[in-house]
Formats: sequence, structure tokens, C-alpha cells
Amino acid sequence: MKTVVVTGANSGLGLYASKHLLQKGFTVVLACRNLQKASQAKKWLQKKTKKSPITENQIQIAQLDLASFNSIRKFCKALPTNNLYGIICNAGLTYSTPTRFTQDGVEETFGVNHLGHFLMVNLLLSQAQNLQRIAIVSSDAHNPETQQHFPPPNFEKVEDLAYPKDDYITNWEKEGSQRYANSKFCNVLFAYQLEQELKKTHREHILVNAYNPGFIPGTGLGRNTSPITHFMWFHVLPLFSRFSKAIRTADESGQSLARLISDVQVSGKYFDGAQEKPSSKASYDLVRAQRLWWRSEELAHLKINEQIE
Ligand SMILES: NC(=O)c1ccc[n+]([C@@H]2O[C@H](COP(=O)([O-])OP(=O)(O)OC[C@H]3O[C@@H](n4cnc5c(N)ncnc54)[C@H](OP(=O)(O)O)[C@@H]3O)[C@@H](O)[C@H]2O)c1
Repeated sequence: MKTVVVTGANSGLGLYASKHLLQKGFTVVLACRNLQKASQAKKWLQKKTKKSPITENQIQIAQLDLASFNSIRKFCKALPTNNLYGIICNAGLTYSTPTRFTQDGVEETFGVNHLGHFLMVNLLLSQAQNLQRIAIVSSDAHNPETQQHFPPPNFEKVEDLAYPKDDYITNWEKEGSQRYANSKFCNVLFAYQLEQELKKTHREHILVNAYNPGFIPGTGLGRNTSPITHFMWFHVLPLFSRFSKAIRTADESGQSLARLISDVQVSGKYFDGAQEKPSSKASYDLVRAQRLWWRSEELAHLKINEQIE
């Protein structure tokens, strides 16, 4: 039985991607920080997959808090990896309040969206012999050439992301968008550099791609936004998904995300929904990607024997 780990699988895109993976016959590990929410998601998935025959063991639950290195290490250690075929780095957040930190003192948007996934993937790579596919969920928020809603990614050093200086910040909503765009840019750099690292270690058979699910209002991503954005996100914008091509549903984007595990035959690419497209010009800066990789290793205290051999 081929197993796929989906982070943040209890809600939004991750939940629907899990549904499509189950329908394709995969076993899915719902890797969630809140086990109660994970159990509810399991029940929902059982109902939604009633027509396709899935077995009791096909949906598994595991606790994973990407805002804690300790939790990530525990999760990876406990996970049976013999059948691990795919990983979807989906969990993500944004907020518009003063800086929040992970348990390890790293700014939370960068810490969860990038650094936690970076550590988890590296740990799983060192122990999963049958791993074949990795999908890293980014966003077109990383790309100023295709969207204007988010500010262009902007940082000099990786330290600026992990340990930002807050003194000059007056507009937390704007800062939240900036940090989100930066973290989604890191997701693309990570995918591209991971492909390079896999080549260096002769593991080209593991295909890794970055993914933009498109604009999906109504998911939990909007929960920490200002009252106006919150209202539009949950109550107004989802109504337009039937009429506007610019708005996607978690179901359709979950389906194309699941295909990056089941169908894709390329690596080191960026997918916008079902279509392979170029990512931003800046994201092809391999020196920057390498620097992010090295600095992430240090920030996550990744030990030599924990890395890809
Ligand atoms: N919605 C969009 O328009 C859109 C557009 C582009 C990209 N994306 C990307 O799509 C991905 C999924 O987002 P979504 O829209 O589906 O939002 P969502 O419904 O809020 O899902 C995010 C998931 O991440 C989990 N999560 C947050 N912090 C975590 C942590 N510390 N440890 C483990 N899990 C954590 C959440 O768990 P809890 O429920 O416990 O908080 C939730 O399950 C994100 O990477 C996002 O950046 C979304």
C-alpha cells in the first residue's frame, strides 16, 4: 500500500487533496497539530469516500506541530516509512497581528510555512527508502509578475525572516502579507534546491515539485486576518467561485495537488493548478536557493547524520 503524508490535512486544500488521494487508492497520513480536528477530518473523509471502497487503515492520523522542532522530530521517528511513497507539504498560515513565534523562537510564518517542512522532509528522506514524490505547496503570492495583491518577496538574509526586527512596523496587515509572500517564495526555492540535492545524491527518481493552488477563499487561511478581510474571505468571495475563473475551489485544487503525487513525471517544476508554468524570475536564483538551504539546516539544527546521505 503506497502511503502519502499530508501536512495540515484537517482543513481546506489538504483535506481535499487527501480525499482525492484516498480515491486513487493511496493510504493517507493526516499529519495535523490538533488530533481532535484530525479525527473530525477522518470522519468527513470516510463519508466522502463511501462510494469508493477504502479500508479502515487507509486513513491514519499523526500529530505534527510544524511550529516545534521537537514535535517534527517525534513525528518523523514514529512514522512507519517502509511504504512511504509521497509527501505533501501543505500546512500554512498567515496572520496580521504583532509577531508570533514558533516554540523554537522563529517567526511563525517562516517557521511553519518553510522551516518546519524543510526539517520534516530532510528527516523523512533519510529514513524512507521507497519515497518517490514530494509536492511543496507555494502560492502565486511569491510572484509579483502574476499578481499584485501581495508585495514582492523582499529580504536580504534568511535571518531577517527567522528573527525579524519589529521596531519599524506600523501596519501589521501589510507586514503579514509581506511575510506570507516571503515564505511562499522560500517554498519555491526549497523545491528547486531539493531537486538539486537529490540529483547530487543520485536520487533523481524522487520527483519534487512546487505547487500553486490558486485563489481559494473560504479556507482556514483567512482566519487571522482583519475583520473586513475575514468577512470577505469567508462569506463573500466563496460565492463567486461558480462565476469567476480567478477563484478556485479546494476540491479542484486538491485534485490537481493529488496528481502531483499520482501522475507527475517531471521534477523541479512549478505547477499552477494542473498546468506546469514558470515561477517568478527571482525564484530561479540558484545561489539564493542554496543559501536558504544551508541557513535552514543551521536554523533547524539538522545534524549531519539526520540529513540526506
Ligand atoms: N487558500 C488560498 O487561497 C491559498 C492560495 C495559495 C496558496 N495556499 C496555500 O495552501 C496551503 C493550505 O492552505 P488552506 O488555504 O487550505 O488553509 P487552511 O484551511 O487554513 O489549512 C492550513 C492547514 O495548515 C495547518 N497548520 C497551520 N499551522 C500549523 C502548524 N504549526 N503545524 C501543523 N499544521 C499547521 C492548519 O491546521 P489548524 O486547522 O490546526 O490550524 C490547517 O490544517 C497553505 O500552504 C497556503 O499557503 C492557499
